[in-house]
Amino acid sequence: MKVLVTGGAGYIGSHANRFLARQGVETVVLDDLSNGHREAVTDGRLVVGDMGDRALLDDLMAAEKFDAIMDFAAFIEVGESVENPAKYYENNVVKLKTLLDAAVAHDIRYFVFSSTAAVFGEPRYVPIDEDHPREPINPYGMTKRVGEAMLADYGRAYGLVSCAFRYFNAAGDAPDGIIGEAHEPESHLIPRVLRAAKNGVAMKVFGTDYDTRDGSCVRDYVHVEDLAEAHYLGLRYIMERNGSEQFNLGSSEGFTVLELIKEAERVTGGKIPYELAERRPGDPATLIAANKKAREILGWEPKRSDLGTILKDAWNWEQNRKY
Ligand code: UFG
Repeated sequence: MKVLVTGGAGYIGSHANRFLARQGVETVVLDDLSNGHREAVTDGRLVVGDMGDRALLDDLMAAEKFDAIMDFAAFIEVGESVENPAKYYENNVVKLKTLLDAAVAHDIRYFVFSSTAAVFGEPRYVPIDEDHPREPINPYGMTKRVGEAMLADYGRAYGLVSCAFRYFNAAGDAPDGIIGEAHEPESHLIPRVLRAAKNGVAMKVFGTDYDTRDGSCVRDYVHVEDLAEAHYLGLRYIMERNGSEQFNLGSSEGFTVLELIKEAERVTGGKIPYELAERRPGDPATLIAANKKAREILGWEPKRSDLGTILKDAWNWEQNRKY
């Protein structure tokens, strides 16, 4: 089997690419390296280019005859999407359409898509299952909501078979420390907590007056290696069944920001300096996934998504970063 991995030099894409290679799947990574890292592509050939470049896609698809596409090539910053929605619609919707059109033209029937918990917006209930209403509250979430709709419509009209995964808080790094999370700028909680552990510079806890156990936000952290495995299982499932699906991917356990800091102190063996700060606009109080559907249908079993293991792998990466 041969798979085109768009955005395969990025955080989640690079872990998925490596996982596929370990299963004997041949991959080609397409990444423009705007956020990705050349060193993150440990397997398969890297083509540096833009997924919105139809001529490039035509050449690549004609030459390689892919069986499937896994698409990780998206912008993901909620705050930036509010300030610059055009950038998000251009990349996450317009270029996605180019990729889907090329897939249809070259008869690539199977498509695995990175979606997000942000498609649900402010939760009406937790844990959030796949039937929860999708009412995004920022442009990033809306672009992914539109992406999901495009997949459904292309499925009905052109026979594209897809699997969309809505990640909750992707975290952790390859246990062997070869690849890991390297966003610039880094806005995510775990790398910030671990940098504070390393540098002794205080990080901020955004919001202490939420309606949660200790007033800080509750999130569901899921290990990137478990996400990678889900993508492989999802691809196999839609290929065998020839039908499209959507899954929420999380550990189904929630931790507050303050609980996470405490656990990080245990893992790193040191004090983590932090300051209590104002809420960050747009943060829901609690996000927790129902992962029953992925478990039952895909047989997905998160293996490294307990918070201690996530932090151990992330601490290893933070101390020995390769890029
Ligand atoms: N946080 C802090 N201090 C920091 C960074 C984050 O207290 O320096 C808090 C946030 O307020 C939030 C929690 O830690 O409560 C997690 O924040 P992240 O930025 O790590 O992750 P988010 O939950 O904001 O983002 C995730 C995904 C997004 C997705 C979003 C949906 O990473 O892609 O959920 O709401 F859009």
